[in-house]
Amino acid sequence: MKSFAMILALFSLSILAHPHPISAHIFPNASSIPSWLNRTKYAWDQFQNLKGCRHGDHLTGLSNLKTYLNKFGYIPNSPSNFSDLFDNVLQSALLTYQKNFNLNATGFLDDQTLAQIQLPRCGIADIINGASSMNSGSPVAHNATRFHSVSHYSFFPGRPRWPDHRRDLTYAFAPENGLTDEVKGVFTRAFARWAAVTPLTFTAVESFRAADIRIGFYAGDHGDGEPFDGVLGTLAHAFSPPSGHFHLDGDESWVVTGDLRSAPVTAIDLESVAVHEIGHLLGLGHSSVEESIMFPTITSRTRKVDLAVDDVTGIQELYGANPNGNPSPPSSTTTPPSSVQERDMSKGGAPKVLNSWWSPLVVAAVELFLMRQ
Ligand SMILES: *[C@@H]1O[C@H](CO)[C@@H](O)[C@H](O)[C@H]1NC(C)=O
Ligand SMILES: *[C@@H]1O[C@H](CO)[C@@H](O)[C@H](O)[C@H]1NC(C)=O
Ligand SMILES: *[C@@H]1O[C@H](CO)[C@@H](O)[C@H](O)[C@H]1NC(C)=O
Ligand SMILES: *[C@@H]1O[C@H](CO)[C@@H](O)[C@H](O)[C@H]1NC(C)=O
Ligand SMILES: *[C@@H]1O[C@H](CO)[C@@H](O)[C@H](O)[C@H]1NC(C)=O
Ligand SMILES: [Zn+2]
Ligand SMILES: [Zn+2]
Repeated sequence: MKSFAMILALFSLSILAHPHPISAHIFPNASSIPSWLNRTKYAWDQFQNLKGCRHGDHLTGLSNLKTYLNKFGYIPNSPSNFSDLFDNVLQSALLTYQKNFNLNATGFLDDQTLAQIQLPRCGIADIINGASSMNSGSPVAHNATRFHSVSHYSFFPGRPRWPDHRRDLTYAFAPENGLTDEVKGVFTRAFARWAAVTPLTFTAVESFRAADIRIGFYAGDHGDGEPFDGVLGTLAHAFSPPSGHFHLDGDESWVVTGDLRSAPVTAIDLESVAVHEIGHLLGLGHSSVEESIMFPTITSRTRKVDLAVDDVTGIQELYGANPNGNPSPPSSTTTPPSSVQERDMSKGGAPKVLNSWWSPLVVAAVELFLMRQ
């Protein structure tokens, strides 16, 4: 345990020593994105060449697909470089991936699977140290009739959460980013969505160092072993409680407000990604429920900011409901409550009894250790 804590300490030091926040590409609305940002090549376009490949194929670039699946937890770390052979390991990784994303379990790179893989997504893995949070880790995963009818929210290993005496959390922005009040307001709205359904409160403060949650835009390698990858690809990542690190890829075309449907294909709605990452900061992992905020991918030019029943059920399992009221059922038009448990929780049901949990420092350190392996 001591060595885990040491890793945490080293990690924090490296963040402080090499922050490198940048001037991010943040646009007030979709029409202010310059056309030169409408490029044709993005982080995972290369996988297009692999379309249709299957077991036994040997194709240049398959090693990159393995690296991708390794990054998100589907292939364990390999002692040597990945080869370009479509082997058993790749097949089984694809089957798990397909299960998690509600795709047909074909075991090869069919069109739907390829399209899903190329979507921009969160940088946090779907499977952490072999523990899948999504469909593939659930006992009901194989019951297709129930795919969309049960909760699929998840937690990080050890269920880390902010401790009882820390319900009023503060957040601050990396000063070097020089964000406007309008941009900061996007995060304020995103925090409010989680505060509405929990006993947590979130307050903006000036001191970046002293804040519980530290928000910054970074480009490429920024000192935490999880480099960003330019336009599209991974969009952001955040660490489990009580770490509070919230990093966004400064190379994306972030849009602050308005309709994105006619925007260039690179346009990403800032609030949508912020709501998702705050879910991680509070202790939620990824969900296989497509409508949920905690689903790992987001299509560009799309706004998705309403917590789904699945998100609310998950967060209330960690913290309980908001004591000041009856949270309105979240976005029931897009995600009708579909199980008895979900209906109860969406009416502001009593907080569940929480399981016992480890000390936050140890949990965070273990988590970090698992994520950085
Ligand atoms: C988009 O933002 C630009 C720059 O701030 C502004 O001039 C323009 O009026 C805005 N357009 C819309 C549709 O809000
Ligand atoms: C592994 O990759 C590195 C860097 O790309 C390369 O220099 C090395 O030769 C590769 N090793 C093997 C065994 O393929
Ligand atoms: C799964 O396969 C069926 C039958 O081939 C097809 O109709 C359906 O669109 C596929 N679904 C997905 C998500 O690929
Ligand atoms: C799948 O789930 C449904 C609904 O709970 C249940 O009725 C059915 O028996 C399950 N099927 C299998 C194969 O487990
Ligand atoms: C972006 O580029 C694509 C293909 O080059 C083109 O079809 C589309 O109209 C462009 N969009 C904008 C908003 O410039
Ligand atoms: Zn995520
Ligand atoms: Zn980072």
